This record gives sequence, C-alpha cells and structure tokens, in this order.
Amino acid sequence: MPDLQRHFDRTIEQDRRVEPRDWMPDGYRATMIRQIAQHAHSEIIGMQPEGEWITRAPSLRRKAILLAKVQDEAGHGLYLYSAAETLGADRSELTAMLIEGRQKYSSIFNYPTLSYADVGVIGWLVDGAAICNQVPLCRSSYGPYARAMIRICKEESFHQRQGYELLLTMMKGTAAQRDLVQDAVNRWWWPSLMMFGPPDDASPNSARSMAWKIKRHTNDELRQRFVDMTVPQADALGVTLPDPELRWNAERGHHDFGPVDWSELKRVISGDGPCNARRVAVRRAAHEDGAWVREAAAAHARKAAGGADVEAGLEADVEVGIEAGVEAGRR
Ligand SMILES: [Fe+2]
Ligand SMILES: [Fe+2]
Repeated sequence: MPDLQRHFDRTIEQDRRVEPRDWMPDGYRATMIRQIAQHAHSEIIGMQPEGEWITRAPSLRRKAILLAKVQDEAGHGLYLYSAAETLGADRSELTAMLIEGRQKYSSIFNYPTLSYADVGVIGWLVDGAAICNQVPLCRSSYGPYARAMIRICKEESFHQRQGYELLLTMMKGTAAQRDLVQDAVNRWWWPSLMMFGPPDDASPNSARSMAWKIKRHTNDELRQRFVDMTVPQADALGVTLPDPELRWNAERGHHDFGPVDWSELKRVISGDGPCNARRVAVRRAAHEDGAWVREAAAAHARKAAGGADVEAGLEADVEVGIEAGVEAGRR
C-alpha cells in the first residue's frame, strides 16, 4: 500500500496523468467522480434554457446554430459520463442521483431565458465563464477527464463566439433589440460570476483539489480572470455590466468589482432558484419517456454481442488460414 501511495504521489508531483487502471486514494476517486458527474449533469441540464428557444429562433440560420450548440452540450455530457464510468461509477446511478436531487449541477441553469437575447448572453457569459473554468482542466490530473476537456473547450469557444456574434447583430438593430440585450446582461452577469463557486475562504474542498492537481486555480483567481476578460468585450458590444463598483485598478493590474450576493448562490444551489423544479422535472420526464429506447438498445447490444462472437470466430479462422498459406508458401 505505501508503494502504491508513493507511486500516486509521484505521478501528481511530476505532473503526469492518473489513468483508470492506476491505484488512487479513495478520496481522489470519490472527488473525481463527484466533480465529473456534476459537470456531466450541468451539460445535460444546460441544454434546457436554450433548447426552449429552438422552435422560436428568429431565422433558419439562428435555428441551425442553436441546434448545433445544444447538441454539442449533449455530447459534452456523454463524454463526461463515460469519463466517470472509467472510475467505476454507474451511469444509471448517476442519472438517478440527478433526477432524485441527490447530486448537483451548475446553479446557472436554474435561471429562466426570457428573450432570444438570452441565447446570446448565455453563449457570451455562461460559455465564457465555462471556458475560464475548463481550460485549466485540460491539465487536470485525471487523464480521461483532462482529455475530454480538450475537445469540450474547443466547442465551448465556438459557443462563446456564436453568442457574441448574435449580440453584436442585435446591438446593431433597433432600440428595442438593444434593450433586450442590456436586460439579459443585467440578469445573467451576477449568476455568471457565481459559476466559479464560493469565495476561496469559504470553499473547504478547494485546497485538497489543488493539491491533487484536479484544480489548477482557485475560484477567486478564475473569477477575476473572467471579469478582466469580459469588461473590454462589454465595451466593444456597447452594454453596461450591472455593477457600479466595477473599475480598473492599476495598482493590482485587475478590475475591482462589487460584492457577489453569496446568499443567492446558496439559495439557488439548495433548490430554491427560479427554475430548479422545472429543470429536474423535464430531465426526469425525458428519462422516463426514454425507457423503451434503453430497453431496445440493450436488447440489440445483447444480440450484437452474440453476433460478434460468431464474427470473431470467423476472423480467427481466416487469420489461421492465411498464416497456414504463408507457411505453405515458404515451404
Ligand atoms: Fe458544454
Ligand atoms: Fe457550451
């Protein structure tokens, strides 16, 4: 056991990846499963606020973009559930925990989307915050998670750009359109800052995740990076971020910003946000409606597995035959 622990510690120390078959401390495995599962749930629940606008997209082009984006989020969920399975988690158990409210997803998806400008603002701010969080996770110590994150980040940057481009278009439109954008920014700004989690001094698990190199930067560092990145983008867009205390601090080389209402985050995370019940109910209904698909797929897989045995047998026979022929040729 001490050898295994030493090997694990050295892997982390030397910045190598922990792989599924490697020994790892139970706490590392449990933390990793929880983080990956919550991330997967967030991708899947995150399809809903924007998915509600697919039938009401203002043009064919916007509909095609939004469809692609929402499908990407489904894909992200699938990679991540697969990554959790490499740690021994059971996929149906993870889904059960989500729809029974035993496992969380990002609080941001418990807010409603009130106009099409919200689609743009989610792409710009929510996917933007996700990128800030996730780029460092490409170097996370757990191999399958880190590798999944590389592809996810590439797609998230497309999401952010489509959102920003939509907002630029609306800002060049009518006064009413500009008002919709500003209203959406007012509603999504603070919840976006909450996406980085509680402040460092109130984030008890943070230090351990940093030591294990699951996390590379603290919540507050990432939040600051997001604010610094977003302010010039807001200026270019011509919107006002709803924070009277937001200003450049030359001494720190960063923007100062006003206090985040952490009681709101606590309330929304614990289930009392504007859309929590609806999000989970929609996910549960989709899961129940999909039961027949899972049964059919499982039956098909069983049949295919039987067929695969036969095929593997045939292939082995062919190989033996070729080898025999080669042997015969040599003689
Ligand atoms: Fe995503
Ligand atoms: Fe995204």
